Amino acid sequence: MRITETADLWYKNAIVYCIDPETFLDSDGDGIGDLNGLAQRVDYLAEIGVTCLWLMPFYPSPRRDNGYDIADMYGVDPRYGNHGDFVELVRIAHDRGLRVIIDLVINHTSDQHPWFRKARASKDNPYRDFYVWRSDTPPDTSEESMFPDSENGIWTHDEKTGEWYLHHFLHTQPDLNTANPQVRDAIAKTMGFWLQLGVDGFRVDAVPFAINQTTFEGHDKNELEEPHDYLRSLRAFLARRSSGNGAAIMLGEVNLPHEEQLTFFGGSDGDQLTMQFDFYTNQKTFLALARQDAAPLIEALNSRPKDIGVEPQYANFLRNHDELTLDLLPEDEQNEVLDTFGPEEEHRFAGRGLRRRLPPMFDGDPRRLKMAYSLLFALPGTPVLFYGEEIGMGENLEVDGREAVRTPMQWTDEKNGGFSSAAPSKLARQVTEGPYGPAHVNAADCRRNKDSLLHHITRLAKRYRESPELGWGDYAVLDQPNPSVLAHHVTWKDRSMVLLHNLGAEPVVVPLTLEEEEPGTQLLDLMSEESCELDQDSSTESQLDGYGYRWLRIKRADDPRLV
Ligand code: GLC
Repeated sequence: MRITETADLWYKNAIVYCIDPETFLDSDGDGIGDLNGLAQRVDYLAEIGVTCLWLMPFYPSPRRDNGYDIADMYGVDPRYGNHGDFVELVRIAHDRGLRVIIDLVINHTSDQHPWFRKARASKDNPYRDFYVWRSDTPPDTSEESMFPDSENGIWTHDEKTGEWYLHHFLHTQPDLNTANPQVRDAIAKTMGFWLQLGVDGFRVDAVPFAINQTTFEGHDKNELEEPHDYLRSLRAFLARRSSGNGAAIMLGEVNLPHEEQLTFFGGSDGDQLTMQFDFYTNQKTFLALARQDAAPLIEALNSRPKDIGVEPQYANFLRNHDELTLDLLPEDEQNEVLDTFGPEEEHRFAGRGLRRRLPPMFDGDPRRLKMAYSLLFALPGTPVLFYGEEIGMGENLEVDGREAVRTPMQWTDEKNGGFSSAAPSKLARQVTEGPYGPAHVNAADCRRNKDSLLHHITRLAKRYRESPELGWGDYAVLDQPNPSVLAHHVTWKDRSMVLLHNLGAEPVVVPLTLEEEEPGTQLLDLMSEESCELDQDSSTESQLDGYGYRWLRIKRADDPRLV
């Protein structure tokens, strides 16, 4: 094995941590989190083992969609700081060995963006073609809106010029016309700007919408490259601009089945997105957790395209800043997950997902939570955490919509959970109350308690980092008779591991046969310091508690790693 490769394609065994700067730490007492506050907590994140920060939008914005409605792609919202604070934060992160990626929204802007203000001023304004317009009355598109609760469709009539503009999200988020070369150049220039300020890449928002067919309709096909060429050109631009700097990445949000995701990696050329979140496996994982049956998860892992090449990578996650969307599952499976983990109407968002964090879904069961995070780190790919997951934060259902999971980070049991010294009425968002409030769940207490989720996740991060086969390896699901168990094998160069996860509450015995291994080979459990040995038939048995898990490293005489 060549350890050097892990430093080149750094993202393949990174640990990504997503932060909403607005709700992380308020350093100046105005009730709003800020970049200086975030900088104070880089050491906390480094101690957990996080290797890459993902900053959610911090740009000037009317914040109709938590900052994903951007009014100035080059700016820093003054409530969070300024460009100087941004550069200081990136420097501190780099010094502590963490990379920084930022959200890049290429599908839309805010309707307050100067481009859109100009575009709607008149039909012949030079910026008109930055957006997508139609002059005829649109058909019923209510099924196509991403926010069916608040929008009737994806076209809104503009009074002044009498035409309709396209918006897949809110009507205050007009879709950019990414078929327009000027828009493409403007987006690339934005990337260039932030790369120059030191970022290591981008989490690219809502990618399939940005290259959707509606945007491209009506354009002269001979003049235009095909939509995916846009992603190719952004990736090529990124490579040119970041080559001296360690390669920067594009981590794309593509909520589509595996087969379709393949195109977004660039097929066998691998020349589009560097990484994609694995939404399909995420949704099947929740079905598997709901049923306490690993079969849906196994099906998802087996359906991942195996031939994506070395550079592309999947990012795994349990929860993120959005609702837990279940839209890739058939309706009966969606209902199973909704009924199990979100029985009340208030747990649900737009009928398709859950506005909950994980611990309340599991009724706070620490064994089940620890197993779920072990699974997150053990799945083939790169794990992504959402702030507060490491301490077991819950949602606040008093807060509207998807904001329920974006409440202030809980640092201590003090006022406002240590997030801010401002009066509670001044906070950017209400702190969670009740059993998941700061009195019971906070980072300071977790640090002192060796049995805490925080310590567990810190340990998982360490073991994950010293086991690059998890991020890099080929994998196979192993046969064994327990329906509640996922047993999988990863191998990279001369390194192999067997990972066992019991999604069920009952203890089980897992018989394993590793035909390719010699009798007598030792399997070392990286989580419990126990070990077992393969018998004459290269078989062994492993006991798992209810919600138990094991990370078994296959011991090789020439493995230079400490055990
Ligand atoms: C992505 C973001 C989500 C946002 C949407 C529109 O799905 O994750 O929070 O609302 O894009 O930008």
